[in-house]
Amino acid sequence: MSDDQMHGGPAPAHVAIIMDGNGRWAESRGLPRLAGHRRGADRVHEIVESCPDLGITHLTLFAFSTENWKRPASEVQGLMRLFRRYIKKEGARLVAEGARVRFIGGRDPLDADLRALMAGLEARTVENDRLHLTVAINYGGRDEILRATRRVAEAVRDGRLRPEDVTQDTIAEHLDTAGLPDPDLILRTSGELRVSGFLPWQAAYSEFSFVETRWPDFTAEMFATQVRGFGRRERRYGAIAG
Ligand code: FPP
Repeated sequence: MSDDQMHGGPAPAHVAIIMDGNGRWAESRGLPRLAGHRRGADRVHEIVESCPDLGITHLTLFAFSTENWKRPASEVQGLMRLFRRYIKKEGARLVAEGARVRFIGGRDPLDADLRALMAGLEARTVENDRLHLTVAINYGGRDEILRATRRVAEAVRDGRLRPEDVTQDTIAEHLDTAGLPDPDLILRTSGELRVSGFLPWQAAYSEFSFVETRWPDFTAEMFATQVRGFGRRERRYGAIAG
């Protein structure tokens, strides 16, 4: 029996995850919030590793939003340290495992050394295609659409594009996610029923899963259960059942 038959439908090719609940996980244990983020970073490794066996070719992770700058400076700095450490520690393994890494989100506010690490990992993995791992840092969907709109407007102003030639594809090609398929499944941990500005354009036809478990407790096994549940859903993209 094929995997599709066993689970009722194809695996989602592209899963996007809002990794929520690190802070509450730590606070409920009397630990500093950063301890939750550290444990969360360990989970990232486990979930990334599980993707190829589940038939997932694209994984997108929401690591830091445009709103997260409002957190205390110590937490923001701690998260930035975690991103640096993740790239330095996991970079070689991601290269070896055939992952192609991309970062989405506005880079200008990030420190130059972090931007250099990000660009370096993107360059080292550009030839890979076993798993497309996209990490959203300083990402906000409205910000992404705003930046894309400005670039389309510049193209029109400079005479490279006529307004009547602007299509949905034009917009998609100017987003940070240009070239990536839309997510099939968007998963949020920790019980919050919000999308918090994650991939608003790309999520037009995505399925959603909200799970109660906090991200630091979210195991590869729980992830596999969600992915299999996706296979049992019927996606109609606005049409009627066939
Ligand atoms: C949300 O939990 C999580 C974040 C803002 C950070 C996500 C970052 C990681 C999992 C660490 C490293 C990531 C990578 C890609 C290496 P929260 O702090 O909002 O939790 P709360 O809602 O319980 O306060």
